Amino acid sequence: DAEKLDYRNQIKVLLKQQNAVLVAHYYTDPDLQSLAEETGGCVSDSLEMARFGKQHPATTLVVAGVKFMGETAKILSPEKTVLMPTLEATCSLDLGCPVDEFSAFCDEHPDREVVVYANTSAAVKARSDWVVTSSIALELVEHLHNQGKKILWAPDKHLGAYVQRETGADVLLWDSACIVHDEFKAKGLQDLKKVYPDAAVLVHPESPESVVNLADVVGSTSQLIQAAQKMENSTFIVATDRGIFYKMQQQAPGKLLIEAPTGGNGATCRSCAHCPWMAMNALDNLTLELKNHSNEVHVDAALIEQAMIPLNRMLDFAK
Ligand code: 13P
Ligand code: SF4
Repeated sequence: DAEKLDYRNQIKVLLKQQNAVLVAHYYTDPDLQSLAEETGGCVSDSLEMARFGKQHPATTLVVAGVKFMGETAKILSPEKTVLMPTLEATCSLDLGCPVDEFSAFCDEHPDREVVVYANTSAAVKARSDWVVTSSIALELVEHLHNQGKKILWAPDKHLGAYVQRETGADVLLWDSACIVHDEFKAKGLQDLKKVYPDAAVLVHPESPESVVNLADVVGSTSQLIQAAQKMENSTFIVATDRGIFYKMQQQAPGKLLIEAPTGGNGATCRSCAHCPWMAMNALDNLTLELKNHSNEVHVDAALIEQAMIPLNRMLDFAK
């Protein structure tokens, strides 16, 4: 509609004027994802968002996603200005891992390699040996396990337990979860599989073990999109935030994509599996931000110096 078009046009002009590039996550509004693509930015999973922001020559990064994504961008490019449509968009995993408790936990287990998920604060990252995203968690823990290392994992217990089951590594888990993925239900998924017996089941590893166990593919948002594109199946049941359907349908045209159920009765819920914090990013607050710069991401210089080490290790490992 006209209002949207007006916002889009304003954003395009403002990005150009400010030598800024838009980096958006797959869970954000399709309007933002398509704008990022049209303007030479990127729409991707959290690993690729970090890499893209670091490598891009723009002097300003505009991050449409949640707080840890903005902080990661700033830590990897301290010389760039990092803006977000809102600074209120957090993540239940970040909230569930306060740095003081986490540090004390690490201090109690000095014999363990500290591996933290990207969905954490800058301070938690600064206390870690490694940062990982869901796309490389398995490979990194496998790598450390092969070196005989014991792991302390935080904060997502489901992803940590998945990595533990798959690698056989000794993993001590922090107890936190994603409020979106934690809601997927195995019973409902089993019922839905009976209705669509030929469907492949794609699951993000932040989901509970009983749901992961029913998956044909477990992976990051990018990996799930690739699976929908490459697999022969014509139907997919997808257990992750519904924001993913915009890009997944584009990449897998003609395929039937069905939301995995968040209730126990097999009924899909068209609004349940959506991150309330990702949903805070919109055309209007993005436009406003480009005009006002009131939501610039600042990270303490000492934390940047510390957190940059495990984040760069992550990027090097992922190469
Ligand atoms: P991805 O790295 O798979 O995009 O996941 C980020 C996230 O927040 C999932 O909930
Ligand atoms: Fe965090 Fe879950 Fe939202 Fe991802 S979907 S940002 S893990 S609360």
